Amino acid sequence: MPYQTIKSQKLFAQAQARFAGGVGSGTRSPASGWVPSPVYVDRGEGSHLWDADGNRYVDYLMAGGPLILGHRPKAVIDRVCQVIQERGSMFALAHDLEIEAAMKVCQLLPSVEKVRFDNSGTSAVQRAVRLARAYTGKTKIVRFEGHYHGWSDQMHWSNRPPLEAAGRRNAPRAVPNSNGIPEVLGKTLIVLPWNDIDLLEKTIQARKHEIACVITEPILGNLGGLLPKPGYLKAMRQLTADNDVVLIFDEVLTGFRVAPECAQGKFSLLPDLTTLAKAMAGGFPAAAVGGRAEIMDLISSGEVMYGGTYNSSPIVTSAVIATLSELSQPGVFQKMEKLGVDLANGLVELAQRAGFPACWSGVGSMFQLWFCDESQLPYDYRSAVQVLKSSPYAKFWEGLMKRGVLVQPRQDNLFLLSTTHSEEDIQLTLQVAKETFKEMKALQPPVPGK
Ligand SMILES: Cc1ncc(COP(=O)(O)O)c(C=O)c1O
Repeated sequence: MPYQTIKSQKLFAQAQARFAGGVGSGTRSPASGWVPSPVYVDRGEGSHLWDADGNRYVDYLMAGGPLILGHRPKAVIDRVCQVIQERGSMFALAHDLEIEAAMKVCQLLPSVEKVRFDNSGTSAVQRAVRLARAYTGKTKIVRFEGHYHGWSDQMHWSNRPPLEAAGRRNAPRAVPNSNGIPEVLGKTLIVLPWNDIDLLEKTIQARKHEIACVITEPILGNLGGLLPKPGYLKAMRQLTADNDVVLIFDEVLTGFRVAPECAQGKFSLLPDLTTLAKAMAGGFPAAAVGGRAEIMDLISSGEVMYGGTYNSSPIVTSAVIATLSELSQPGVFQKMEKLGVDLANGLVELAQRAGFPACWSGVGSMFQLWFCDESQLPYDYRSAVQVLKSSPYAKFWEGLMKRGVLVQPRQDNLFLLSTTHSEEDIQLTLQVAKETFKEMKALQPPVPGK
């Protein structure tokens, strides 16, 4: 069947009458690259997705991260349905499942002595920041350009700032990502470029009396999975520990995706607080904040308010238990990592053979292809902007999509894998990429002489 989007376009037109913007989140909209219209999904299964027009895709969105076990993971769905049918969906009272889920998270993460559940990454980050402020008695948050920590008024700053507005690299201005965010909150932020330990050190030394926390994505998933420079996170850990600053790893995206013990386990580091969500519950809306008992006990003592009607529901806690049990099976991560690395290497090779400079960043389960030489691989937001300026990625995305491979339309996003992706999916994707590069080459001949 030839690729078509007629039904998706029709549904989008209908949706806009009563459904603000026509989509549930800005990242699914034409403004985020979904042209001619957002993809309206019919159903998913494992690593595949079918849309309203009947197109079948190998899916590398994985719902933005949660579907680490693929679409409709049987073990999780069965467990959650059983809990709902036999016990209920909501109590807003204490129950045993939240204890079991908390135990599982703490078992996997040595830095998490105590944990509390939540329903979204945005909200978990807010809690972590509040805890850090209460613990230190200080207010300012150090955050990095290009990182994403949710859409709250407090944190939705300097994620993709226009460079004219962001000012000098060594002293970036905090730039809000939306209208409606009070300017005054910008004064509680200190924005820095990532992967620059000297600047972080200077800033902490000069302003330690006012800095409550440093928050970072340990692998920059919201910018193509850029990796920390060797020693960078370790130095960040040391500096924060020495200066009474709480270190928060925002592992909403990397948690239970890059390793069973998350990015912090991969780098053998213990942050003070960690935020988790997405892959932790295999497609159900669970999130968490956890960390050192001394800090988390501010909740137990009532000094830090931690409310929420939907927190720790039987639905999400049973999903956490089932998902983490599945992820604890031997070999699961190794297989996913290997397939991802094979795919990333294969894409680079095909792009180069077609005459496009290419390299990749990230790890096997979350990576991005960059159309530049390895020597130009970005290491922070501003270096990424330079590469993105002249990237043919939009054509790459379009070529893959019309041939049945679904990836995010924006290059600053990621290829995300699940435990259900197979060797066959990878081979099919590489075949489709080969045809796409051929088409791109014909459309935009690479540098003469190559
Ligand atoms: C690192 C990180 N932190 C926080 C968030 C916000 O999470 P949520 O969309 O669940 O609010 C995201 C979402 O993509 C994220 O990637």
